[in-house]
Parts: sequence; structure tokens; C-alpha cells
Amino acid sequence: MPKERNTDDLFGKVSDGELPPADSPLPTLLSDIPRERFPRHIAVIMDGNGRWAQRQGLPRIDGHRRGVESVRRTSEECTRLGMEQLTLYCLSSENWKRPQQEIDFLMHLLEQYMIEERTTIMENNLRVRMIGRREDIPDQVLKELDKTVELSSTNDGMWLNLAINYGGRRELVDAIQKIAADVASGQQSVEAISEQTVSENLYTAGLDDPDLLVRTAGEMRISNFLLWQISYAEIWVTEACWPEFDEAALHQAIASFAGRNRKFGGLN
Ligand code: IPE
Ligand code: IPE
Ligand code: MG
Repeated sequence: MPKERNTDDLFGKVSDGELPPADSPLPTLLSDIPRERFPRHIAVIMDGNGRWAQRQGLPRIDGHRRGVESVRRTSEECTRLGMEQLTLYCLSSENWKRPQQEIDFLMHLLEQYMIEERTTIMENNLRVRMIGRREDIPDQVLKELDKTVELSSTNDGMWLNLAINYGGRRELVDAIQKIAADVASGQQSVEAISEQTVSENLYTAGLDDPDLLVRTAGEMRISNFLLWQISYAEIWVTEACWPEFDEAALHQAIASFAGRNRKFGGLN
């Protein structure tokens, strides 16, 4: 039976997830895989919150609320497994088309995440970075985001890159404008524009490209995510919706990646 909901509870607290013990051994599925076969950077298109909720007879926003628990679980487990970077698609530049109530709730969740997770982020030595455009994001969300980014900037553990108001095409347009401005001011010659120049002018400047791209909820599309950066990422799609994505699913994705033969256009 779907749970009764009180609309006063719309912006209620996100419940705490269970954390794995810090010193627990590698899970069985991964125990025989050499560490160097693990991806170093995982990017995730966290999709299916709404579908998950609707299947339980709940409003879509409850799916987003549960999605935050998956964010917490996934970043904890990635940290424990020694990942260098985790990039999460939180809000696309196209998601503003959604009903205002859903947008307001997503903004509230983001703000709450920044406040409530700050201590855990610091305990886990994470470095938080935002990728995307700041425009249209409410000031109070930016304030809490900036605080977390600033506070975590001296950490040296896993990068937690949050794609918020992110669009791959917009990112490329922004990069092209920056490079064109550098050409116009004489700081950049046209002939010297290289792949590195483009990479250095993206929101992800300084970050490595993802090795593994995970998408939940079964869609076989990129939805404007990291168009430049995923050119040679391995793709893994699961039917599980994001709120259902757990440690076991993450291990399956990593094990699948470890078995791939990455050729980058060559023969081996
Ligand atoms: C992903 O879940 C979260 C965001 C895009 C913010 P959706 O909200 O897209 O869920 P579905 O795809 O409608 O089920
Ligand atoms: C992609 O999911 C964006 C995020 C996960 C933030 P969408 O639900 O927006 O993608 P489409 O609309 O199904 O392509
Ligand atoms: Mg979706």
C-alpha cells in the first residue's frame, strides 16, 4: 500500500542512509578484480526518480527525496572503493521545463543536501565542485553550495562533481566564446587551438574525463551530459531507477567496466 503523505511534509528532512563500515573488505563481486582495472572516474545520469515514485503510488518529489539517499550511498561507496572522481548529473539545463513545484522542490533538496551533508563530506575528505551555469539557481542554494565547495577545497580525497544547471551543448558554446574572446584579444592564436585548449575551457577544466558512464532507469541516451568528455567512456545502463541504485548495482557496473576491452580506436 502506498504510504499516506501529509503535504506539510513536502519539504521534510531527507532521512539518513546506512553507511558501510569504513574498514569493510572489498565486496565479493570485486574481490578478484585488480584495482587498476577499476574506473578512476565514474559519471552518473541519475534518472528515474519520478518513475520510481509513481510505481509506488507516491508523488514524483518523493522519488527525488529518495534519490538523495542514493547519492549518499553511492558517494560513500565510491570513496570506500578508492575512486578518484564521481560526477553526478543533478539538474540539466533542460530540466527547468518541469512544473515550478518540482523545480522548487529540487532546489530545496539541493540546499538541504549542501547543509546536511557538509559534515559527512568533510569526514570523507571529499572535494566538491559544481559544474554548470550559476544563472537561474536561487541565491540561497548557491550560498550553501559555495560554502561546501569552499570548505571542502582543502580536502584531497575523491572529487564529487555536481552537474547542476548543466548542459553539454551550452558548455561547448561557453568554451567557444571564451576561446574566441582570447583569439580576439590576441592571447590565443587560431592555429594553436587544440583539444587541450577546448578541455581547458570547459566547466570541467582540470578534471579527468569519465572512464565509466552509468545511466539508471533504462534510457539509452546521453541527455546532453558531458558531450565532449565521454567520447571514450564505457557506458553501463541499468533498468533500476536511481532511488533503487545501491552498492550491489555500483559493483556490477564496476565489474562490467573491468571486463571491457578499451581500445581507443587502436587494436588492443
Ligand atoms: C532524475 O529523475 C532526476 C532529475 C532529472 C532531476 P527524473 O525526475 O527524470 O525521473 P523520471 O525520468 O521522470 O522517472
Ligand atoms: C537527465 O535526465 C538529467 C538528469 C539526470 C539530471 P532527464 O530525465 O532530464 O532526461 P530525459 O528528459 O529523459 O532525456
Ligand atoms: Mg528522467
